[in-house]
Amino acid sequence: MRDSEGFDQWADKYDDHVREGEREGGYPFAGYGEVHERIFRRVTAKKNAAVLDLGFGTGTLTARLYDAGCEVYGQDFSKKMLEAAAAKMPGAKLYLGDLKDGLAGPLRGLTFDFIIATYALHHLTDPQKAALLRELRGRLREGGAILVGDVSFPDAAAREACRIAAGDEWDTDEYYAAFDGLARELPGLRFERVSLCAGIMTLGK
Ligand SMILES: C[S@@+](CC[C@H](N)C(=O)[O-])C[C@H]1O[C@@H](n2cnc3c(N)ncnc32)[C@H](O)[C@@H]1O
Repeated sequence: MRDSEGFDQWADKYDDHVREGEREGGYPFAGYGEVHERIFRRVTAKKNAAVLDLGFGTGTLTARLYDAGCEVYGQDFSKKMLEAAAAKMPGAKLYLGDLKDGLAGPLRGLTFDFIIATYALHHLTDPQKAALLRELRGRLREGGAILVGDVSFPDAAAREACRIAAGDEWDTDEYYAAFDGLARELPGLRFERVSLCAGIMTLGK
């Protein structure tokens, strides 16, 4: 499991690494660009939306939202990732903080039109994901939504099929969600499959 220092070390190479992984086409990055694209379209359908990005990384998606006029907030626990993202979005309100402890102090009293997390929540166990999503639901404005794009599956059988196909490539330190399990904890959760290993979960207010 990568800690914040592990992500600090990955920050410089992260964008190249993801691009290469996506070009190869399989687990874990198949569908990465499409996940970003669908979330970008959903968020920008609302003009100047207030959006909180959790685990924003180098800001690949967040900076597009910022450039499209969104009011951007974010939380990540890697200082290097935050520096890379802040350089692209000087007016964004980005904070350091571990998602396992919930939202960072300055974000706690705020509400958002969208809360997004792409390729970040698989670092949390399923109970940690459910607890965080429950907390976040209370931070949504009327008509708002939480959009989680990640390595994720409709059910445990689909996850197992991907694990077998991935062989030694499968990362045993990450916690990929199976939608049917999480949906039992979070009524109203929806799932759309994007690729063999990627999906988007949506949770309204
Ligand atoms: C794989 S990157 C994804 C970055 C970006 N959202 C994307 O779509 O490419 C995961 C990001 O989540 C952050 N992260 C992982 N675990 C975290 C945690 N427990 N608390 C806060 N940030 C975390 C990492 O520092 C990293 O920037």
